[in-house]
Amino acid sequence: MLQLEKINVYYGESHILRDVSFAMEPGQVACLMGRNGVGKTTTLKAIMGLLPVRSGRVKIGERDITDEVADRRAKQGIAYVPQGREIIPHLTVRENLQLGFWARANKGNGATEKAAFEEVYRLFPKLTQILERPGGVLSGGEQQQLAIGRALLSDPKVLLLDEPTEGIQPSVVDQIEDVIIGFKSQRRFAILLVEQGLHFAARLADAYVIMAKGAVVAAGKANELSPEEVKRHLVV
Ligand SMILES: Nc1ncnc2c1ncn2[C@@H]1O[C@H](COP(=O)(O)OP(=O)(O)O)[C@@H](O)[C@H]1O
Ligand SMILES: [Mg+2]
Repeated sequence: MLQLEKINVYYGESHILRDVSFAMEPGQVACLMGRNGVGKTTTLKAIMGLLPVRSGRVKIGERDITDEVADRRAKQGIAYVPQGREIIPHLTVRENLQLGFWARANKGNGATEKAAFEEVYRLFPKLTQILERPGGVLSGGEQQQLAIGRALLSDPKVLLLDEPTEGIQPSVVDQIEDVIIGFKSQRRFAILLVEQGLHFAARLADAYVIMAKGAVVAAGKANELSPEEVKRHLVV
């Protein structure tokens, strides 16, 4: 349902992504792995439409979205939780969440909106206590819950999660893991997860894609990931 076909991305003259191709199935959780600087974040940004691809195609379902801007991709069902969260600091938690809901294509009626917010509050009860607080004063864990909640409100087909556990206290990591496991059991949307924590990734992923130096060097089912591949491409 999400397909990358030989995408090439540059920062200025630096050739960063080289013929990156992979495909995701509906409802699948895939883990994108690789050492620092191999191009994982760049890949997610290219999928979201935040960086131009110089060649290659990005497709969602049958639709080619390569030339569509980020806002339109959001309406096509791509949601992105960036590394470092990027909460809007001067907007409150409630307003940040509202942005997620506005990004959705099918807003339904008031009841749809209420149910969507209630789901986020059920998954992340902490948010209900801090709704009027500005995003800029939240802890890392609170920001991450807000960022995932905001993405969920856009009613995604594919959720892009960039290192959601980075720099977050263990209790919140466990909570985020539970939430992802919940999404996975519902199979409501696919998740492309960038994650350095191998154990975290192994518990969640159906499939894996390993990158090195801007290219995909291995991909397959998570339970077929070999220790040799892990050692070669992931262990520093
Ligand atoms: N804004 C930028 N300008 C120039 N080069 C960048 C920029 N962002 C990232 N890069 C380079 O692109 C490569 C891939 O970065 P990134 O996708 O962030 O890697 P990862 O997420 O796998 O750690 C790195 O070599 C990085 O230095
Ligand atoms: Mg990164």
